[in-house]
Amino acid sequence: MSATWVTLTLYFMITYLACEVRGDTCDTYNHPQYGIGQCTEQSQCPNELYLTGLCESQPTNIQCCFSSETRHEEFRAIWIATVNNIDWPSSKTATPAAQQAELINILNTVQRLNMNAVIFQVRPAGDALYASTLEPWSFYLTGTHGAAPTPFWDPLAFITTEAHKRNIEVHAWLNPYRARMTGATYELASNHMGKIFSKYAYPYANHIWMDPGSVEVQQFTVNVTEDIVRRYAVDGIHIDDYFYPYSDGTEFPDDATYAAYQAQGGTLDKADWRRSNVNTLIQTMYTRMHVVRPKIKFGISPFGIWKSGVPAGISGLSSYDSLYCDSRMWLEQGLVDYMAPQLYWQIDPPAQSYPVLLDWWIKQSAKGRHVYAGNAAYKMAQGSNQWQVSEIARQINVTRSMRDRFALGNIYFSTKEIMNNVKGIQTVLADYYKQKATIPKMPWL
Ligand SMILES: *[C@@H]1O[C@H](CO)[C@@H](O)[C@H](O)[C@H]1NC(C)=O
Ligand SMILES: *[C@@H]1O[C@H](CO)[C@@H](O)[C@H](O)[C@H]1NC(C)=O
Repeated sequence: MSATWVTLTLYFMITYLACEVRGDTCDTYNHPQYGIGQCTEQSQCPNELYLTGLCESQPTNIQCCFSSETRHEEFRAIWIATVNNIDWPSSKTATPAAQQAELINILNTVQRLNMNAVIFQVRPAGDALYASTLEPWSFYLTGTHGAAPTPFWDPLAFITTEAHKRNIEVHAWLNPYRARMTGATYELASNHMGKIFSKYAYPYANHIWMDPGSVEVQQFTVNVTEDIVRRYAVDGIHIDDYFYPYSDGTEFPDDATYAAYQAQGGTLDKADWRRSNVNTLIQTMYTRMHVVRPKIKFGISPFGIWKSGVPAGISGLSSYDSLYCDSRMWLEQGLVDYMAPQLYWQIDPPAQSYPVLLDWWIKQSAKGRHVYAGNAAYKMAQGSNQWQVSEIARQINVTRSMRDRFALGNIYFSTKEIMNNVKGIQTVLADYYKQKATIPKMPWL
């Protein structure tokens, strides 16, 4: 009996210790002759000049590799959207084994195309595609909001382990404020943020949306982020373009929250106050996650136009005014480690020109934070004016032409167009990504 007890105690201690995730020392280890290392598959290391034991978060086939040969650095990623089962799992009622096989297939494709990162949506609507004590399991994983998968598994732990075996980074993608997606009708679980902070959960545009002005909502989101960074070996944390919701033509119903702010002596006008609420969340997330793990990367992929008319000739939705998202300031002040503006437009039409916008974004990076362009692979397959694959090829070229000014890669939306090889996109990617590339270094981390 006592032997079993000791074994169990040891098991839980090891499990607990294994939960604390550290950064890799390889990124800072300075080899006298070959400089700073990079965690890479041992067999891929030129000259076989590698040291073991410096890539602590990685499996044993990934080692700290040094090379005097210059290696191409480029971030090459896909977004794996889980909301509405856009990319994965294709069926929320499929067995865990089938869902796992589907993820492996995606990762094998990413590896085969010499790409090196995935942005995996783990919190589409105050829910979890991982084992959380803070939030309910996602409807999109099991078909039942709040129900754990059976047999039990943890998709975030699974994808992180499997991706790292293939030398692919995983960035966990969280939606801070969306509490329930348009079209969903399930009752929120009792531990859902929309129930805990029900006073701040508003029906809006057929969603349920949390009030970004609520300090409790902000702190809760920071707690969820910290929990992920502490327990999972993810390489980054990612937020997309949703802050205050896209307008449905009615006013977002936060009068009471704004009145409470004014009653406490707040003097900002409503628009500036809303932006400051979002800014506070971004700043706090950035600070707190780096306290937990200094090397974690924080990236945001905002709507690709900051303000209509900026730069001259650009017109479209102003995310600054409509979503209260001051993305330009975050990049300028270094509140992100990378910015991935969703540049979901073609090169040639001037109103939202891809190269004009990308050039503008990189000019905002006063602190040299990376800019990875978000590319609309879905526009080859959806809508009335479907793109040719050459548009994507040209966009990679444009991005590369600005690589010496921090335009250091591309992220494609979304996975399913790549997996379905829409218009032969895989051939184009294989052509542009003939050699493997390493993840661009972030020396400030
Ligand atoms: C966030 O976590 C802290 C520390 O565990 C806790 O004291 C606080 O109540 C949490 N905040 C919210 C809003 O859940
Ligand atoms: C991309 O750039 C290369 C090298 O400059 C050029 O040969 C190629 O035609 C370009 N491809 C496209 C699609 O613009």
